[in-house]
Amino acid sequence: MDYFIVKDVHMTCAALSIGLFALRGGLQLAGVAWRRSMLLRIAPHVIDTTLLTAALWLISQLHQYPFVDGWLTAKFVALVAYVLLGKLALRQGQPARRAWGFYLAALFCVAYIVGVAVTHSPLLGL
Ligand code: HEM
Repeated sequence: MDYFIVKDVHMTCAALSIGLFALRGGLQLAGVAWRRSMLLRIAPHVIDTTLLTAALWLISQLHQYPFVDGWLTAKFVALVAYVLLGKLALRQGQPARRAWGFYLAALFCVAYIVGVAVTHSPLLGL
């Protein structure tokens, strides 16, 4: 398999994953019942599974790993924070202020992940 094709798959899934999270969070904050859409319920699982499978393949080719290489450790930790904050942001029936806080914090985390991916640096190359 070609490294750059898998990397393209990984990046495309990353863009779709972020876009779908932003959309679902935005709809939820606007009071729209997005869970009625089967596409919005199922697509994120398929995309995130593909994103992570591609990530595993990429690290196996690069021979760089979380908890060994700083930038991948930062990506992994920020990914866990993104998933947890995202879950809280999409939880139903919580006050709007809290939901907004979790939503913005999750978007901040994923922006950091992209920054780390591009710079290969936990400090974003600063
Ligand atoms: C929401 C989660 C993630 C997002 C948004 C994301 C985003 C990206 C982006 C945008 C790139 C391309 C960077 C560039 O060269 O310009 C990339 C590459 C890469 N990502 Fe991810 N990623 C995520 C999760 C992960 C995870 C969990 C791992 C592994 C622990 C990982 C491993 C890699 C690797 C190995 C590359 C290729 C680096 C290279 O060839 O230069 N990613 N990622």
